[in-house]
Amino acid sequence: MRIVNTVFELREAIKAWRLEGESVAFVPTMGNLHAGHLQLVSMAKKKADRVVVSIFVNPTQFGVGEDFETYPRTEREDQEKLEAGNADLLFQPSVADIYMPDAKTTVTVTGLSDLYCGASRPGHFSGVATIVCKLFNIVQPNIALFGLKDYQQLTVIKTMVRDLNIPVEITGVDTVREPSGLAMSSRNGYLTDAEKTVAPKLYQSLCAARDTILAGNQAYADIEQQALRFLQQAGFQPDYFSVCRSGDLKKAAAEDVDLVLLAAVKLGKTRLIDNIYFSR
Ligand code: PAJ
Repeated sequence: MRIVNTVFELREAIKAWRLEGESVAFVPTMGNLHAGHLQLVSMAKKKADRVVVSIFVNPTQFGVGEDFETYPRTEREDQEKLEAGNADLLFQPSVADIYMPDAKTTVTVTGLSDLYCGASRPGHFSGVATIVCKLFNIVQPNIALFGLKDYQQLTVIKTMVRDLNIPVEITGVDTVREPSGLAMSSRNGYLTDAEKTVAPKLYQSLCAARDTILAGNQAYADIEQQALRFLQQAGFQPDYFSVCRSGDLKKAAAEDVDLVLLAAVKLGKTRLIDNIYFSR
């Protein structure tokens, strides 16, 4: 696997592949790689001739007082995992390589970016949309893969690609979970041993809500309230639990068939998100 740190080197490497007529799949990450990230790499290998992975802890998607400084940076381990996962190229730029100090342009997917995680993390999805748009322009992949674990992020990116005519195919990949059901996340490393026993209850709350909906219960507001109570009693500080339409993330109405349940909580100092999608 080749490792490059600058946009210039990356473009040169990709140009050589393009001359050979090879297709490129792209997996953007912030590093501290786990089996969820590696699942994206393995799917990417099946979809294109070459796989580019980026590791960039993007400052613009972290709010004031969030964990930008302390976000786990595990460069050596990440490189070993990507070698083992057969990635072709790792792009690991510095902040100075990516952001001009006087940059004046950002990308915002309006509306969608203010809901759910966007409501609790103002500016977060503009930071995500801007960096992903920039990385798409730098890498120019045929296809890019994102985890369904970050369902709202995936929806924001799909909407941006549609609205800005970015010539890339976006593929969502299923959430990889611990045996306990807990969705794998770089932030799980912040959990104490005691919190680790509580954390799987987030997924349990989603499964319980899905099961009651599949059994015919359509009192979505009551289901949300019940889930919030359950989460609070389990020891979380719930942020939101919402029964939504899976396409545009609007609140689900009785006639909607394709649903996603979105949830976010704090457990001690750690923010956890998860979701489950299904058709009624
Ligand atoms: P990061 O949290 O590192 O995640 C990188 C990719 O891995 C995202 O597409 C995310 O949805 C996916 N992912 C994370 N946990 C997963 C799991 N348990 N199962 C499957 N996929 C999982 O998301 C970001 O970075 C950033 O916002 C980024 C898109 C790179 C922009 O900075």
